[in-house]
Amino acid sequence: MMVFRKQFKFWVIVVALSVLSIGCAEQTGQTQLLGDGIARFYEPNVVIKNLPPSMSLEREPNVIGQVPAEWMLVPQFGIDKSGRRTAIMKIETGTSLYGTGEVSGKLLRNGYVTECWNTDAYGYNGSTQSLYQSHPWVLAVRKDGTAFGVLADTTWRCRIDLTKDIKFSAEGPSFPVIVIDANSPQNVLRKLATLIGKISLPPRWAIGYHQCRYSYYPDKRVREIAKEFRSRKIPCDVIWLDIDYMRGFRIFTFDPNHFPDPAGLNNDLHKMGFKSVWMIDPGIKAEKGYFVYDQGAAGDHWVKNADGKEYNGEVWPGMCAFPDFTRPETCTWWASLYKPFMALGVDGVWNDMDEPAIFNVKSKTMPTDNIHRGGGGLPQGPHAQYHNVYGMLMVKASREGIMAANPDKRPFVLTRASFIGGHRYAATWTGDNVANWEHLGYSVSMALNLGLSGQPFSGPDIGGFCENGDAKQFARWFGVGALLPFARGHTAKGNRDKEPWAFGKGVEDTCRTALERRYRLLPYLYTLFYEASVTGLPVMRPVFFTDPANMKLRSEDSAFLLGSDLLVVPQLKENLNQTTIQPSGIWRTVSLVGEDSAKDVNQPELKIRGGAIIPLGRVVQNTEEISLNPLTLLVCLDENGLAQGTLYEDAGEGYRNRNGEYLLTKYAARQDGERVIVEILSQQGKMPRPKRNVIVELITEKGVIKAEGDETKQIVINM
Ligand code: GLC
Repeated sequence: MMVFRKQFKFWVIVVALSVLSIGCAEQTGQTQLLGDGIARFYEPNVVIKNLPPSMSLEREPNVIGQVPAEWMLVPQFGIDKSGRRTAIMKIETGTSLYGTGEVSGKLLRNGYVTECWNTDAYGYNGSTQSLYQSHPWVLAVRKDGTAFGVLADTTWRCRIDLTKDIKFSAEGPSFPVIVIDANSPQNVLRKLATLIGKISLPPRWAIGYHQCRYSYYPDKRVREIAKEFRSRKIPCDVIWLDIDYMRGFRIFTFDPNHFPDPAGLNNDLHKMGFKSVWMIDPGIKAEKGYFVYDQGAAGDHWVKNADGKEYNGEVWPGMCAFPDFTRPETCTWWASLYKPFMALGVDGVWNDMDEPAIFNVKSKTMPTDNIHRGGGGLPQGPHAQYHNVYGMLMVKASREGIMAANPDKRPFVLTRASFIGGHRYAATWTGDNVANWEHLGYSVSMALNLGLSGQPFSGPDIGGFCENGDAKQFARWFGVGALLPFARGHTAKGNRDKEPWAFGKGVEDTCRTALERRYRLLPYLYTLFYEASVTGLPVMRPVFFTDPANMKLRSEDSAFLLGSDLLVVPQLKENLNQTTIQPSGIWRTVSLVGEDSAKDVNQPELKIRGGAIIPLGRVVQNTEEISLNPLTLLVCLDENGLAQGTLYEDAGEGYRNRNGEYLLTKYAARQDGERVIVEILSQQGKMPRPKRNVIVELITEKGVIKAEGDETKQIVINM
């Protein structure tokens, strides 16, 4: 009897402990504290030094110690029926889930399943589980507005199941889980950026408007497009060259009939104030006598099949070989190809099809047992291990080549495939979307979730890549697309023209207004890119950032914020029946170029936050024109009669900013009786302050009150 009682007591304690442990799971594995509120967990028996190196982290972080016993967020490791390793993080009711990278559908990800496996997802829809990129990362916002993030640090195929809790299940070996705990979602992202890095500040031209199509050719057509922009006075910075510039789709070659003089073309574009971005794909036509193939073969640079022979797969040029970017020698060779290419006056590079996409095979990619040989710290491994990072490794090597070719310029690379951390090397777009209303809606939620997954520089093909769409939809798309971090119009081969003027006068006016708004906002946007490069916070942010504890804002994914001071409220529904949940507090509508968003459904309403100062430039046709004379400061006072804002300025190109040649100005406004005084609060950087006129526009309940003056003195507005 005694024995039974003792045993009974023992089991009661065990059951009670395990019930308690639902809130605070037991730490059974190995743990590492990586920073304030940052922990890494491993399965109990794993030999950490035998695991492959992390591909998401910028560098291996210092381990401060073990995770303290009171740490609440502990993943439970296991194995599922299919043999995949799993890690589960329980969530409390009221927790909203975001992130998971490039995903279509809604911003709020509760209930979704995402399969991290980079896929050429032409014409995807809202339930496609694998798009072009992999971000095994979830941002969780608790009911009270505090937040945490979970990263399954594996490059292998990995499912993120958010139907109940946060559940990762991945092929391949045991993987570490990194958990970040913070008092707000913004602080989770700041901490994430200390691990996966931040973007480097792009050249200013890259945040202008980009015009693309598949493809502008011959060269005469490229010049025509450029001239149209200038003669119609529609702002634009960049014209894009898609695959048809090449000779038979052979990368690093030019079609001698259609593009006999690429340097001359670039020169002409430069004279008109345009930059050019040219496409380079990873597939290299397997053809003896073609210099890229010959060099690659001589250097033994190709991915091998399981038998150790050169793997060939079909893409645009026919059967192709693929560089093995896990090999340092291959990356060095790849980088070297850019030197003569960039010397032709190429400004930026578009790396596409880098999932890698392969035609005419069910998997749409190379066999998972292909071999990547590794080197320089990366182990040899099957394609299954390196598939999701193929694109990221490619753009890293491209970027290095571009920087070596143009050491005084900031690189610009756009990639279709990527992995968490890939923002360190390239901007991205959301692939082959469709010209329909659904996709117009995804434009906002997709760029938001990419931002919540570390990638601040993204946007959709404005107007839709697949299919034609119509004038009404195009105009609506352009209005919002012009306000996204990466703004590029693009369309597929065979489709109708989709330049801003292609749908007639009315739509052309809409597009011009939309771009004039973007160009007036560029000083603010550039400041936000600067902020992203320093803090890791995204340029485009969800509305719930204004008040993370307000559950009503959690699923708002038509409106969004640029930075923290400008709310963008587009109408994304064809029948205009979209309702937007707007944040509380003072938000006042502004007009930037005389537009009236209350009357023009194509121009999203723009609202400045009470307490903010937003810097604006004048309308220019491209970012080479001086836009900050006059400088306009939009001022909206908070309930205490105060406001503040920041402007970051530098040469817009090159690296002199790293030696202090920049100007970071903090402006402040305060109400003093019937007057509002605007002045510089602080400044940093040694770039001389340009002599300029400053226009202050005070946005009040009753209207706009203006004053002008010299920013080095006080500017006074009489109310
Ligand atoms: C892929 C890209 C698309 C490009 C086309 C031709 O479909 O996603 O943007 O235009 O290839 O290069």
